[in-house]
Amino acid sequence: MSDPFYVTTPIYYVNARPHLGHAYTTITADVACRFHTMKPAETYFLTGTDEHGDKIERAARQEDMTPREYVDRISGIFKALWPELNIRYNQFIRTTDPGHKALVQRILQQIYDAGDIYFSEYEGKYCFGCERFYTDRELVDSKCPDHETVPEIIREANYFFKMSRYQDWLVEHIHRHPDFIRPERYRNEVLSFLKDPLDDLCISRPKTRLDWGITLPFDEKYVTYVWFDALLNYVSALDYPNGEKFRKFWPHVQHIVAKDILKPHGIYWPIMLKAAGIPVYTHLNVHGYWNIEESKMSKSLGNVVEPLSLKNVYGLDAFRYFLMREMVFGLDSSFSEAALVQRINSDLANDLGNLFSRVTAMTHKYLGGIVPEVSEAAEERLSGLKFGDLESNAAAVIDQYETAMENFAFHKALISIWEFINQMNKYIDVAAPWELAKKKSCRPELDAVMYQLLEGLRIVSGLIYPVMPDTARKMQEHLGLSPDEPFYLLAILRAWKTLQPGVKLPKSTRLFPRVEIDTFKAQSSGDAPSLSGPDISEPVALKPAIDIETFAKIDLRVATVVKVEPVPKAKKLLKLEVDMGDTRTIVSGISGSYVPDELIGKQVIIVANLKPAKLMGVLSQGMLLAAVEGKTVTVATLDKRVKPGTMLS
Ligand code: MSP
Repeated sequence: MSDPFYVTTPIYYVNARPHLGHAYTTITADVACRFHTMKPAETYFLTGTDEHGDKIERAARQEDMTPREYVDRISGIFKALWPELNIRYNQFIRTTDPGHKALVQRILQQIYDAGDIYFSEYEGKYCFGCERFYTDRELVDSKCPDHETVPEIIREANYFFKMSRYQDWLVEHIHRHPDFIRPERYRNEVLSFLKDPLDDLCISRPKTRLDWGITLPFDEKYVTYVWFDALLNYVSALDYPNGEKFRKFWPHVQHIVAKDILKPHGIYWPIMLKAAGIPVYTHLNVHGYWNIEESKMSKSLGNVVEPLSLKNVYGLDAFRYFLMREMVFGLDSSFSEAALVQRINSDLANDLGNLFSRVTAMTHKYLGGIVPEVSEAAEERLSGLKFGDLESNAAAVIDQYETAMENFAFHKALISIWEFINQMNKYIDVAAPWELAKKKSCRPELDAVMYQLLEGLRIVSGLIYPVMPDTARKMQEHLGLSPDEPFYLLAILRAWKTLQPGVKLPKSTRLFPRVEIDTFKAQSSGDAPSLSGPDISEPVALKPAIDIETFAKIDLRVATVVKVEPVPKAKKLLKLEVDMGDTRTIVSGISGSYVPDELIGKQVIIVANLKPAKLMGVLSQGMLLAAVEGKTVTVATLDKRVKPGTMLS
């Protein structure tokens, strides 16, 4: 067994729904984690949500929800999305988890007792989007570089963490551990930042301004600054200080973040660890930003890509492949649907897909679909024919691949695999199995050539496993192997000649269909990328298919509206009393489109078995169906009146 492997993603703010940027980081962590299972190593993968702070409180208010209702809802959306992207995390942490809160208070108290936290009055420029004070040097044209807004001047008495005391230590630590922050450009960025004196960090917010946070253990009039709270998730998840998980995994932690949060991770976090007496993390891996049409894509600017719509259109593995292959880890990348289609057609349909179809189809055509037995004599004759040596090529590729994956150079690892795929395609052209198949006397050579190719495919299926796990399994099945075995173990991939002669292969299949460029209208139009699929007249991609049993779990009922009133302090919500045979309360966000009286007497459709949820303190026992077009909501009704409580099917 290799060393254990612990990988973390940032814990995402719940003030926005998940988008491509979040999906990229989390898929990256999944790929790294799956790669480590190939070594094999015991792995632990942590992700989660960051739920305290101004931003979240304001987002909840905008949605007419309490912070608790709001964070539960959005955190649930993140949590449910990751499995749909084939992301296998071990733990989903929330900063509202009681264990996490207790640890934050414990560490604060410890640092306070050690004299590294002091109380002082401060006036500064505060960006509410970033939830932090900015120095003039950091502002661009007097504006926050991320949110492009002018920060507000805030004067307050607060608690400060003596970061400045640890500045020299951190500079030395970075020099002594050259790959502490990687790639190098981000290490240099942190070092250049540390050339100027470091300000102490304001780690509290008065409750008079914000009370959605963790109370300071030494002053209950204050809550903890959201970054001080959030960063500690990486150790609270492992049950620091006494947890078995902490002991096993912490020494091997690999943090993954994008460049937007380099400073908290490259400066605050190591200093917090040092001050708390926790060993400093081993590696911070920083990637660049996905941009769309030259502009930065983020929740604050609003041009957000819905990742699910793309994987539904083009397939999940193709989507994962594109993200890993297109972005050079550390640099920015441009996202376009055209680039995705291009990669699918060239790398997946053409190179890998064709290779797979050619080899499996020829095995069926010339060998009756049976993995051939190769005699030593045939192998010797083959080596005399100089078709190239796939076995030693495979060994070299596995070495390159391993080094690249180890260093988070995912695109390089994929390039190595594709070099091998191209070698195999050339091998077929040169060895020309169709010629060998013409002469009975060449059967031993034909067997040897086909065996080499099938083995090559086996290696490819193992190497693509972290990025395209479903395709890897499909390839295994079509090579007559069990996809439930750990076929991707590097040791198994390194052992050439493991395919069992005599095994019958299942019928040949296509791995990746080509995307027809004719139907991909957005590509040549120069328009902003259509993210819903090749048919641009279809604005929203369909959700994945479900079976009738899944649909049957939803209890849809007809109900007559008997009473309607606004929900106090909520702009969008109406409280409806409906008759469904019995009477129940439904809270619905339709007040922008209906006045209460308009609804009374209408027959509406209710999702009747949805778990009750509190909205602005009112318990809603179900959900009203409605069509939403921008800000206009149209309630679904029936063609004729029916008995209240009638079921829809
Ligand atoms: N809550 C903090 C992180 C606390 S970690 C202790 C936060 N959350 S966030 O929701 O804003 O997520 C930021 C992260 O999302 C980035 O570091 C990156 O991992 C991912 N991305 C968000 N937008 C992105 C792109 N456009 N491109 C690539 N990744 C991006 O910051």
